[in-house]
Amino acid sequence: MLEQTCAVTSELLGGASVRSSNIDAVVVTADLRVLENISAVKAASGEINRVPKRVFLINQSTRLAVVQAYALGATHVLTNPVSQVQLLKKLADSDASAIVQCEPTSRGQEAASAGAASIASMFSAAMTGSPIDVAGAKSAGSKIADCIAEDGLSSWLETVRRHHEGTYQHCLLVTGVAVDFGLSLGMAKADVERLHSAAMFHDIGKARIPLAVLDKPGRLDDRERALIETHPAAGYEILKGTAGISPEILDAVRHHHEYLDGSGYPDGLGAESIADIVRILTISDIFAALIEARTYKPTMPREKAYEILLDMKTKLERPLVAAFREVALKR
Ligand SMILES: [Fe+2]
Ligand SMILES: [Fe+2]
Repeated sequence: MLEQTCAVTSELLGGASVRSSNIDAVVVTADLRVLENISAVKAASGEINRVPKRVFLINQSTRLAVVQAYALGATHVLTNPVSQVQLLKKLADSDASAIVQCEPTSRGQEAASAGAASIASMFSAAMTGSPIDVAGAKSAGSKIADCIAEDGLSSWLETVRRHHEGTYQHCLLVTGVAVDFGLSLGMAKADVERLHSAAMFHDIGKARIPLAVLDKPGRLDDRERALIETHPAAGYEILKGTAGISPEILDAVRHHHEYLDGSGYPDGLGAESIADIVRILTISDIFAALIEARTYKPTMPREKAYEILLDMKTKLERPLVAAFREVALKR
């Protein structure tokens, strides 16, 4: 990205076209309060989304505007006024998070973009109280599953960490890790589908958490931690009664932070009440959170993340953590 020579071009959205196949980044600037602009970005999205890095400059820093930009296909969002330095830093960021030595595939990039847009759209729906596109999320989850089955987990981790950030990166990583875990366990197709749907929706309750807390670098204080811990029950409330959301998905959304020894939240469930799909999702969630690419600290190696899972002992199911070794370290 940003090689020694870089061509820069700017066009009005109405006439935007991506003429070259080897463009690394596009910067889209539009006032997303204006419906016409949203339509123009949507109309050009086929072209824009072929470019791996899509930085949107928006005029309002409201949570909804940010989520809207992601739903339109942004991989990164900045709020105006933006200095040249900030913009160049954002454009150059990706190299810092390129960790795994394997080529991301365009199939992976497409699945990641579709997944991020679907997660952003469910967050936007959760914030505005509009209907959630359950079928869209399931279909985005299926694309991710196909991609993992074809190209493997490492390629997926690479693509997602390079091109996506924050909550969207997290949800995409969890979905990929959970699918790969399911495949490695030899789960039936229908069970893998349940798993990727649960993973796509698992953190939807975070739509109710202020961004200042959600994206805070470093340690959270007690009040902030308590706020974060409301997200599984909030997610359950958001999805309850939604057509297409099965009881298993609802259970996974509400209980993915429960531990077998009863020390989790929100309900302090014990082992007998935690379903297999939830146990699998919890392990995938913790691992994915540990290996996320963040701007403020280096990415944790997969080996170290797996050691942390092993250290959690009675909280997680031992045989499952043992089976996860293959996914964590080799796939
Ligand atoms: Fe969560
Ligand atoms: Fe999570």
